[in-house]
Amino acid sequence: MEPITPQPRPCWIAGRAEHGVAELTVRHPFDGSEVATVAVPGAEQVERAVAAAAGVAKEFRGTPAHQRAAALDHVSRVLAARAEEVAEQITAENGKPLKWAKVEVTRAVSTFRFAAEEARRFTGDLQRLDTDPAAEGRLALVRRVPRGPVLGISPFNFPLNLVAHKVAPAIAVGAPIVVKPAPRTPLSALLLGELLNETDLPEGAFSVLPVDNEATIGLVRDERLPVVSFTGSGPVGWSLMDAAPRKQVVLELGGNAAAVVCDDWPDLDFAASRIATFGNYQAGQSCIAVQRVIVDAAVAGEFVPKLVEAVRRLRTGNPHDPDVEVGPLVDEGAAERVEQWVAEAVDGGATVLTGGKRDGATVEPAVLSDVPRGAKAWAEEIFGPVLAVTVVDGFDDALSTVDDSAYGLQAGLFTTDVRKAFRARAELDVGGLIVGDVPAYRADQMPYGGVKGSGVGREGVRSAMADLTEERVMVLTGVDL
Ligand code: SIN
Repeated sequence: MEPITPQPRPCWIAGRAEHGVAELTVRHPFDGSEVATVAVPGAEQVERAVAAAAGVAKEFRGTPAHQRAAALDHVSRVLAARAEEVAEQITAENGKPLKWAKVEVTRAVSTFRFAAEEARRFTGDLQRLDTDPAAEGRLALVRRVPRGPVLGISPFNFPLNLVAHKVAPAIAVGAPIVVKPAPRTPLSALLLGELLNETDLPEGAFSVLPVDNEATIGLVRDERLPVVSFTGSGPVGWSLMDAAPRKQVVLELGGNAAAVVCDDWPDLDFAASRIATFGNYQAGQSCIAVQRVIVDAAVAGEFVPKLVEAVRRLRTGNPHDPDVEVGPLVDEGAAERVEQWVAEAVDGGATVLTGGKRDGATVEPAVLSDVPRGAKAWAEEIFGPVLAVTVVDGFDDALSTVDDSAYGLQAGLFTTDVRKAFRARAELDVGGLIVGDVPAYRADQMPYGGVKGSGVGREGVRSAMADLTEERVMVLTGVDL
């Protein structure tokens, strides 16, 4: 396909568009065609970006809330106005079907708007201290202050909205941010750099550096960036934490999300359709895409054929076609890995109920049954369009099967029984439980993040603002309470 704008796209160094020392080519995952080239900054440019972030940190945290909120509102408004073009660009760099790219733009519009709203009410608390005789007449003013400049490392699967989840909370609290986008999908992050540059944020408040892994590790170790917020794979995330043990490191990692279909759920067609769609949206490349389907034996005979049928109905193909629901994976290597994991499961005794064949970077949506618990397609994060179904005997078995995982991001529970819902919430080791729907539900204002191998810290604008800041207290003495 034709490049979208003149090349190469500039990177953003402390609020200025600059050419780099090298170029990165962004290729369309569907057909490998060149989408754009991107300026890769060199060491001197990276140094300037970090030095500017550190240099402006005090000034930025002191900027008035209205100024930060106005910048965030501006980005939200322009994204909304340019939604069609931005969605096409997401599809071109990432390969996700246009219908999902449009949802992503709408979500990013909200993420920036929520951050503008939160910036306006980010006030702090008064705490009376005269609850103790020794502190009569004393009052504490507790305010959250940025820990310092943030390094935001974002993944390829939501090239706009997961960058928004790094950038928007940082600006809301007044913390400078250096963004390192995924090398396959830097275009949306660079667009955000362009929109932020249209605001009156101080120089150094943001930089967008499409650098390689070697430069990234240098940034992770750099003491001038005391906060690292990473979304991506577990092995990389934990290794970053090991590389920077004294930093505030927030990790949004993967999962192998489970959807449980209980014996009381009245609408099996709905459950089948939701699980089929949200096991395969973005070709399964979402940390909360359904991977494990846990069905009560009482309804399995009726449910599983409905699920297989719903998966077969999904249209695969060119992601720019508005009717296509499942596009390519991010590249052929990713599709080959998924194909191998399916083969490994089958070698271990799994049955393919539908799908699983690969054509280039596209994998036909698959449903597997009898996947051995040790197979990667069950135990690891497959990040592909593959559902592994297992049948369980009652609710206790369902809960222990959900928790039989190294991960704990989100789970979905199809039940109408409020007691089951409350029990699952209390017992399951997951960061989020969605009752009456799939785990692949995220509202951008709600806390989002995992336990166990799924990471530490929380996103969701207000939660991220808490992670990026620390409490500081001022005590007033001799005051009338
Ligand atoms: C993720 O894949 O980590 C994010 C999912 C989402 O934002 O919907």
